[in-house]
Amino acid sequence: MSHELTADEIGIVLSAAVHAPSIHNTQPWRFEVQGPVIDVLLDEQRMLPLEDVSGRAAHIGVGAAALNVRVAAAMLGHESRLAVHPDPARPEVTARVFLFGRSAPIAGLSSLYGEVTRRHTYRGPLLDHPIPAQVQRQLDDAAHYEGAGLHWLDSAARSGLRTMLRQTDDLELHDEDRLHERHTWIGGDRSLDGVPQNALGPSPVRPALVRDLDAGFDSAQRSQAVFETDPSIVVLTTRDEDATAWVRAGAALQRMLLTATSYDLAASFLDQLLEHPEPRYQLRELLGGRTWPQMVIRIGYPAQSLPHPGRRDWRDSLDRWF
Ligand SMILES: Cc1cc2nc3c(=O)[nH]c(=O)nc-3n(C[C@H](O)[C@H](O)[C@H](O)COP(=O)(O)O)c2cc1C
Repeated sequence: MSHELTADEIGIVLSAAVHAPSIHNTQPWRFEVQGPVIDVLLDEQRMLPLEDVSGRAAHIGVGAAALNVRVAAAMLGHESRLAVHPDPARPEVTARVFLFGRSAPIAGLSSLYGEVTRRHTYRGPLLDHPIPAQVQRQLDDAAHYEGAGLHWLDSAARSGLRTMLRQTDDLELHDEDRLHERHTWIGGDRSLDGVPQNALGPSPVRPALVRDLDAGFDSAQRSQAVFETDPSIVVLTTRDEDATAWVRAGAALQRMLLTATSYDLAASFLDQLLEHPEPRYQLRELLGGRTWPQMVIRIGYPAQSLPHPGRRDWRDSLDRWF
């Protein structure tokens, strides 16, 4: 049977891809399909020059989209392999998924397909239920499969993180240029990209370990809620620190998040700690100094449901199909 995708299958695979998480829902990807090869390109028009100076976060989004391509392809019966920066002559090709022989749905990845549209970033309060150790191990395995590690923070480390967050949030509130960039993507009514106000969730009555992306901008219109006092925090790390490691981190993040969704867990992120060099360095030291933190993830069982941000149609991101 052919390794190539039919037109319908391309729609299935690319609509899975665009459901990936991306910083501020910028969706910084473009696609090209050539026979059994699906390329994900970084869209430089959709990057954040101030909040994501190095492009780390945008590369993570591309890696997450590539993982979703593999999950949908597995559901269609394709073995696949991910190559990062496969073509030196075309550095804009950030991730390439090669599809191989087709048979029954591929065990493992294909079982995550049902979670692709269920997974969403959840910034509301969490229930006070611990995550069972056996579920934590499944999440560890999901990240390991894609070459990343997970560090579950103990209470001393969480307390260190709280102090770092207070300092970083203070920096953020006084950086007009960054706030201006953020508000081109966050708040108000938005349907195709960016994060609309209703997806931000309630603002915490007391300081909580959740990032308030709105940073006081639209706060008059937001409800308030009491948040959990001490959520589980897990940091996704890589051994290397370069664009290839960021894409691999994105694939690991997405595999871990889809696995978490299958256990009805929900996550949000504290990316501000990684966007400034000083807290990122402090966090690296907190984790032993040998790995690079790529995502700081608050994870648990959601106490309510919240609206989700929308997506552009996958056809708007398909540059070439031949
Ligand atoms: C690299 C990266 C960094 C992110 N940082 C944050 C963050 O600091 N705070 C937050 O609330 N959401 C963060 N997000 C989540 C995005 O806002 C979210 O994925 C996007 O709005 C799409 O929404 P969805 O995940 O609900 O589909 C981040 C996502 C990625 C991939």
